[in-house]
Amino acid sequence: MVTVTKLHPLFMAEIGGVDLTIPIPAADFAEIEAAFHEHAVLLFRGEPISEARQVAFSQHFGPLIPTTNYHRVGEKNRLRAELADVSNIDHEGRLLAADNNRRLHSQANQLWHTDASFKHVSARCSLLSAHEVPPSGGETEFADMRAAYYTLPEDRKREIEGLVAEHSIYRSREQMGFAGYNEAARAELPPVQQVLTRTHPGSGRKTLYLAAHASHIIGWPVEKGRHLIAELMDHATQPQFTYRHEWRVGDMVLWDNRCTMHRARPYDDLIYRRDMRRSTVSDEINTVEALGGAYANAV
Ligand code: OGA
Ligand code: MN
Repeated sequence: MVTVTKLHPLFMAEIGGVDLTIPIPAADFAEIEAAFHEHAVLLFRGEPISEARQVAFSQHFGPLIPTTNYHRVGEKNRLRAELADVSNIDHEGRLLAADNNRRLHSQANQLWHTDASFKHVSARCSLLSAHEVPPSGGETEFADMRAAYYTLPEDRKREIEGLVAEHSIYRSREQMGFAGYNEAARAELPPVQQVLTRTHPGSGRKTLYLAAHASHIIGWPVEKGRHLIAELMDHATQPQFTYRHEWRVGDMVLWDNRCTMHRARPYDDLIYRRDMRRSTVSDEINTVEALGGAYANAV
């Protein structure tokens, strides 16, 4: 029997009674999906999941986004192509060196974000599995953006209605002081437009759609847009909207990128191993195109 235990007053639940190491019966998946729509972030605890099972389970939620290679030039994949390597380990099992490109790139995960908002069609949900965890640090925090939207003052809601933001991976990396991109990487990921508010399809509730990748508001002076985005980010990540997950080996967390943000917390990554593997499910359509042109400021 599938059990759902709430871990936070606003969102986040632990799912019990499911064995992710074997195919999930359709009736159980329907219950998991209903919990996903309502709680947005789901925790599964058990034995570490195999790469094949993680991919198979993730595909219940939609097609997977293949991992991009722009941040690991010259590095061999440790994991199969459908899985993003969020570890600090190379393909020979060694810790990444301090100047490793993937290590530097992944430090931007410590900024509040939602996955792949810098892609034209972004990510619907992500699934992150824990295979090795450090003795301290390395938690992941989540923020409920539906609650954040709901608690905005009414005049703020009116002001941001219909606004479109430009998102770019270089905006989040810039904030980390990381500029190690070659021309090919830049051409692969040009800036994209995303709505600032959207209706979360699973729950029918309105939500903010924000990330460290959000650069500015289309049609506004850049600084004014940055100011608004910073203010909304501050609002959305107040402690009452967030949950901190402390990982155990065998955990898998599924989150809805359309109505939550998340960030990694630091740990001593030059000393301790953290083996985390992410599958990323694609959304259906760009958020601006989904509105069919009914937005206030996009060009
Ligand atoms: C991710 C991510 C956070 C973490 O994989 O998308 O942001 O704690 N990970 O590793
Ligand atoms: Mn992420």
